[in-house]
Amino acid sequence: NTTEASSSEQSHLIVVSNRLPVTLTRGEDNMWSAKLSSGGLVAALSGLKKETSFRWVGWPGGDFSADDRVKIDSLLGENSCSAVYLDDETAELYYNGFSNSILWPLFHYHPGEINFEEADWEALPDSLLEVVQDGDLVWIHDYHLMLLPRMLRTMLDGRGLKSVKIGWFLHTPFPSSELYRILPGVLSADLLGFHTYDYARHFLSSCARILGLHTSPDVHVGTFPIGIDPDKFSEALETDAVKARLGHFEQQFRDTQVVVGVDRLDYIKGVPQKLLAFEELLARHPEYVGRVVLVQVAVPSRGDVEEYQQLIVSVSELVGRINGRFGTVEYTPIHFLHKSVDFTELVSLYAISEVCLITSTRDGMNLVSYEYVASQQKRHGVLVLSEFAGAAQSLNGSIIINSWNIEEALSMSADQRLANFTTLYRYSSTNSRPAPKARVVVLDYDGTLSATKSIPEFARPSPL
Ligand code: G6P
Repeated sequence: NTTEASSSEQSHLIVVSNRLPVTLTRGEDNMWSAKLSSGGLVAALSGLKKETSFRWVGWPGGDFSADDRVKIDSLLGENSCSAVYLDDETAELYYNGFSNSILWPLFHYHPGEINFEEADWEALPDSLLEVVQDGDLVWIHDYHLMLLPRMLRTMLDGRGLKSVKIGWFLHTPFPSSELYRILPGVLSADLLGFHTYDYARHFLSSCARILGLHTSPDVHVGTFPIGIDPDKFSEALETDAVKARLGHFEQQFRDTQVVVGVDRLDYIKGVPQKLLAFEELLARHPEYVGRVVLVQVAVPSRGDVEEYQQLIVSVSELVGRINGRFGTVEYTPIHFLHKSVDFTELVSLYAISEVCLITSTRDGMNLVSYEYVASQQKRHGVLVLSEFAGAAQSLNGSIIINSWNIEEALSMSADQRLANFTTLYRYSSTNSRPAPKARVVVLDYDGTLSATKSIPEFARPSPL
């Protein structure tokens, strides 16, 4: 909001997240290259990047030598990114430990996976703060950086920088106060954003019940269900590369219906449940054996955390068992890809599938659901969506499941599919930018929610 900038300097939007949106790799020629990473946060913000310029501050992953850092800084600079480097020990404590062994399982209702021994409460990096100037808008993302608003505010106050606006958006669920009370914590931003009304409600009741906080008229709490950039998918479907790949799949699967699953290999995604449901489908309906395949892309994730290592073992075992049980020389029931696939492959897989199966046991939003809809303009495939994903609250037209009802999806009539698709596509292509129709709620004196009519100026999608 330029009117509030105290100097003649132009205001900037600075996005801060744990991870930068790119993954770096070193080629055989020793040169570094950057590829867009996967994950909800990147999918959500890549659309915004088209219309708003901002600098993105975060961790590039890994530990790098001083020489490499110079090369990487220049590569990132070309992409409007600034790196915050973490040494291996800090990354272990802050990323594998505090963020992914405590906050992540806690926020996804997996208390059994919480490992408090990994905690280091002081490990948040303060070098994130170096780029901020007065008048800037700092938009902090996700559970890793929950404490950053307060740290930043204290530092800014100390330096007399009073015109910095701070927003914080959570990409995960926010759990009930009954679970959250396991972990104490506070925030100090101007605007706090959540995907759904329930997450915001849980947050506010945690403030009231755990902190006894019944009044904070300056802090706005809003629900801002994020979306994707759907044009990216419709445009990709028109490219020669996708058309060629799709043609190949149409041949390969000419007598077979494809069910697709795309997930980071994370215990919150319910991949074992999905495999068991598929096994059950083949066991109960022998007529589907040889006629239906599950193509499951399982993107490797957080491999240094023990719970993720165990998951790889149990998922591999399940895939082997089911393929061994129902497979033949000609037929492999589950095509399991433990890797990320490039964008052409991803869009082609979405487009060839009759069904997309999302079985998360908890999921902040789940943007795979939106990506699938955006890729299904011809086939009108069926979206089977877990009721525990935030997206289930917006995507009418999907089959909302708890008990993984994929049977219904495979036999749905073309008319019903078209009707469902039309509803889904209308929603996902009109709610594709962060915040345009968000409802803002204010933390009332008695800790309850009350709606306000408009979004504060600083929360608009193109604030600067
Ligand atoms: C989720 C989180 C993101 C995170 C992504 C990938 O979508 O909400 O903040 O970046 O997973 O996880 P990773 O640990 O690889 O960054």
